[in-house]
Amino acid sequence: MSLAAAYPSRTSAEPFQPLVESAAFKNSMRHLAGAVSVITVGQGSDLTGFTATSVSSLSADNPSIIVSLNRSSSSWPIIQRYRSFCVNVLADDQQHVADNFAGRGGIKGADRYQGADWQQLVTGNLGLVNALTVLDCELEEAIERHSHAILIGSVRAITVRSEVQPLLYWHGGYRHLSNHTAPTGKAG
Ligand SMILES: Cc1cc2nc3c(=O)[nH]c(=O)nc-3n(C[C@H](O)[C@H](O)[C@H](O)COP(=O)(O)O)c2cc1C
Repeated sequence: MSLAAAYPSRTSAEPFQPLVESAAFKNSMRHLAGAVSVITVGQGSDLTGFTATSVSSLSADNPSIIVSLNRSSSSWPIIQRYRSFCVNVLADDQQHVADNFAGRGGIKGADRYQGADWQQLVTGNLGLVNALTVLDCELEEAIERHSHAILIGSVRAITVRSEVQPLLYWHGGYRHLSNHTAPTGKAG
């Protein structure tokens, strides 16, 4: 059998029937430990952003990164408006920043930036002072798929603070590198 017959390609116009339940998928993803970032978007006072574990490197040549964003989020129209975003990878003492950008307590828009120090970057996005690493990006492309948009960011500027540890997320809760024991039952 040819490779094309074994793995037929599909276009986004074709109907797609999921073969597993969404709940089973979510349970699987609870096992995927991730670094926690906040993605800052907007210019001037037109600001918001979101907490994300879906950040991943796309390519070192050209330096580019991908983030998956729920299109129901307040960040989606602002990213489309300004065509840029900034990935701030959090250090393990920055959980309060993750809580703000996850909208905990109903906090929205520019108020999510309160309680932390920010500096303006080349794209006009705000970068978190003392983040583990900051990648300021222009939006190269946004691929709309299912509930989300896959944001491809072309990296324009980088800062790194290498002496600190990352904030992690696993089994529904924030974790630190020193915690090695798997939680029993549901956490977070
Ligand atoms: C640990 C963690 C990781 C998250 N990762 C993502 C993500 O990768 N993509 C996403 O769209 N939302 C993610 N979220 C949810 C958004 O942070 C949250 O829905 C958003 O900030 C609130 O949306 P709003 O701006 O419309 O209020 C995550 C939340 C948490 C707590």
